[in-house]
Amino acid sequence: MAEELLISESTNKKERYHTLISQIGALVSGESDLIANLANIAAALKQTMDFFWVGFYIVRESQLVLGPFQGPIACTRIGFGKGVCGAAWKDKKTIIVPDVEAFPGHIACSSAAKSEIVVPAFKNNEVFLVLDVDSDKLHDFDEQDRESLETLMKIIEGL
Ligand code: SME
Repeated sequence: MAEELLISESTNKKERYHTLISQIGALVSGESDLIANLANIAAALKQTMDFFWVGFYIVRESQLVLGPFQGPIACTRIGFGKGVCGAAWKDKKTIIVPDVEAFPGHIACSSAAKSEIVVPAFKNNEVFLVLDVDSDKLHDFDEQDRESLETLMKIIEGL
């Protein structure tokens, strides 16, 4: 595992993601436990991107169950197709929600959350976990977030 996380001081989101993603290999090296690695990745995302809430929901017994996260306490279980997380699981694709109030069935774990991105990770073409990121600002996620977080999920798929 890396001794210390280098955090880009750039205000450019792409550069911040790049600095983070280039260190993920070192961060997870020498550790084979998925939960331990997801915990450090959630912390690294929080430190680097300063997200309001960032964490993983893991598919267990036909539900999404709360995994490692950083931020306020959150809902522990989400059904298939429910909320943004369950929809990303069902549709097998990244979902960007610019305004959570406008997403039918959005699950509000915190009333402060205003926009959201959920990115699935796959094993044998099936979703095995999703990354959920919430912002306390409207319209906070764009194609750069999608591209960088999908790259990160490819690394997680290989863990
Ligand atoms: N908003 C999510 C629920 C998880 S929390 O945001 C942490 C959803 O609608 O699936």
